[in-house]
Amino acid sequence: MRLVVVSNRLPVRLVETDGRIAVEPSVGGLATGLEAYLSALPADSPFDEKPLWVGWPGRPLTGLADLDIFTGHAGAFDMHPVHVASDEMDAFYHGFCNAVLWPLFHYFPTYVSYKESSWRAYEKVNARFFEALSPLVREGDVIWVHDYQLMLLPQMLRQAHPLAAIGFFLHIPFPSHELFRTLPRTCRQALLRGVLGSDLVGFHTHEYTRHFQHSVSSILGLPHNMGKLTVTDRPVLADTFPMGIDVDKYARAAASKETRALADDLRRSLSGADIILSMDRLDYSKGILNRLTAFERFLRLHPERQEKVALMLVVVPSRIEIKRYQEMKKRIDEMVGRINGKYATMAWTPILYRFASFPVSELAALYAASDVALVTPLRDGMNLIAKEYVAAKNGGTGVLILSETAGAAAEMGETILVNPRDTREMAEAIETALTMDSAAQIRINQTLFTRLARFDVRHWAGDFLDSLFGVRDERRRLEAHCLSPQGAHVLVETARQAKRRLFLLEVEGLLLPEVEGLLLSEAKGLVLPKRSAAADCPDGVLDLLSLLARDPANLVVVIGFCGRADMERLFGALPVALAAENGAFLRAPGEDWIMPRPLPREWLATILPVMQRFASRVPGAEVEEKEHSLVWRYRLADQNLGQRRARELTARLADLAAGLDVIVRHGPQFVETLRAGLGRGEAAYVFERRRQPDFTLAVAATDGGEEIFAALPAPGPSVATLRVGLCATRASFSLRNARSALVFLRNLAS
Ligand code: F6P
Repeated sequence: MRLVVVSNRLPVRLVETDGRIAVEPSVGGLATGLEAYLSALPADSPFDEKPLWVGWPGRPLTGLADLDIFTGHAGAFDMHPVHVASDEMDAFYHGFCNAVLWPLFHYFPTYVSYKESSWRAYEKVNARFFEALSPLVREGDVIWVHDYQLMLLPQMLRQAHPLAAIGFFLHIPFPSHELFRTLPRTCRQALLRGVLGSDLVGFHTHEYTRHFQHSVSSILGLPHNMGKLTVTDRPVLADTFPMGIDVDKYARAAASKETRALADDLRRSLSGADIILSMDRLDYSKGILNRLTAFERFLRLHPERQEKVALMLVVVPSRIEIKRYQEMKKRIDEMVGRINGKYATMAWTPILYRFASFPVSELAALYAASDVALVTPLRDGMNLIAKEYVAAKNGGTGVLILSETAGAAAEMGETILVNPRDTREMAEAIETALTMDSAAQIRINQTLFTRLARFDVRHWAGDFLDSLFGVRDERRRLEAHCLSPQGAHVLVETARQAKRRLFLLEVEGLLLPEVEGLLLSEAKGLVLPKRSAAADCPDGVLDLLSLLARDPANLVVVIGFCGRADMERLFGALPVALAAENGAFLRAPGEDWIMPRPLPREWLATILPVMQRFASRVPGAEVEEKEHSLVWRYRLADQNLGQRRARELTARLADLAAGLDVIVRHGPQFVETLRAGLGRGEAAYVFERRRQPDFTLAVAATDGGEEIFAALPAPGPSVATLRVGLCATRASFSLRNARSALVFLRNLAS
């Protein structure tokens, strides 16, 4: 089995210096973290082939020589560069990734500049990645797509490789729905559908996962159960996997003789002043200007610290072609100049500023030498620098001041957590850090180090991939349970030879069009039926039923939730038997309605007011009253509020139901109560006994339909049960969706 990683950037990039092409390492946590994992796959990893990393090489490929750099790479993994023309890359990377997704997902909505043409470039470049990757995909490959640049790719891959295991991980925050929804409708829907092409969608924190689930249910109308969604006919899981680092690498680097010597030199050069380290990529999300303001405030509040402390400000060049980044660099330069101008003495410069990137050995020396690390991004998906600092300290002294809006804060609560916009709090935190006693520093760093070592980058990747295999295996199990063309043929043949056939067909989700899951807000121009009972059956379905019912050897029974009047309106003109209200009322063709047994109705008076109260608390929710059951629906309501109230209502009704002999069912967009013992199974049983068929076929699409399967004799040559949709079922086979079920029934009928 082979792991295929796809990310916008490869771990190395091509750069042109003096007319010659050379390779340089890419900067950023994604590249370093994944490289660490792929370079030394754990011994128990299921991958027995060399991994492949597909990505953009940092500039357009100009010829075979460029390609050779990658194909000739003799590392632990293969690399495949994706060629993207400069103008396309520019519109994609600058125009969409960095002008829309990056600012929006980092909570800078006013920096967003959305253009149709950039969105089209985003679609196009995702397609370029697909075109480059798709021919390389082999059966059994596990494809792991990374980050916000490639959100459309999983769905493209799914369409071409329906059986592949596909995972997607977002390395930046997923914003709250209120921000995400500001994207144009087509764009926000496409981004969500794009990532849902995966089996597993991963995020750094539970907060981001929740935000994603909220957007999926609000925008696509797909509710989740503990992060599990059903996307058309596939299970998809959204879950949290906090990314770790290669802890040993930083601990080892910091402990090496050369690093210690470098760190000593640095300390000596600063005459023993306390060193505060600030290190980030150049980015407005990193809060560098706020941090400088806080440092200035600290110097003002604590004049006694002047000449005794130095801020090592390292800014790693990034996206310097973008105007906003150039402006920010200018403001940093100016601010550093102003603070140094104001406070510096002949013997002391408060801020030592470098605009450069450093190799790991020098990074480790900076970590080792500094007494405090000030990691205060305004927003950050995770922030691996905070983790690298603690790893380099390896349980020794050193204090991390960490922004509460960095993803890492969720795992590093022992550090000094600050609001990165509150410069007073940050100034005070610097003083707290500088006065913290060594024993406390060591205690905190040991706890953090142990945690980091346990949840390192290998653990992160392993955990993600294990979960991905879990969802893939579940999908395979569900798919294996699908009725195959041969199985369908056998069923049709068996049915053909039978003399007395019984067909039990469910209304909801099979005979009535699927409207669940469509939201008023998103289903523009589509008139949704107010309730399923008021909907009409498509003509094709009615034709199919009459075709089936025409053969005197067949008895067709239509079983549904609808009341008698609706059942008659929908199917009354056909020579079929009807079971209304989950089987409370039955009608054989040409006969009157009967009740198979008397049912008390007193309980309705207790339950109805509770349901009505809940309906009055959710605009768009409604109570459907039947003679022997009640349903609270929230199809036309805000889905998140509806789901929440549905859970509350279910709990409330469960308490009441115990004393009333009533059962409560919580299904997609509804909560239903009906008398215990009543159910679709009873209707199936009555007609089965009456008909004494030599062939029975039941097709159902809801959980209530499982009762029909349960009431029939065990599946065998004369009994077949089919569940619509891929889910856990007691039916003998599944059918992907209502359409495939209707196609099968049509074959059977003809
Ligand atoms: O934070 C996520 C991340 O992918 C980093 O790993 C990376 O540094 C950055 O986003 C993207 O940077 P660039 O725009 O330089 O590719």
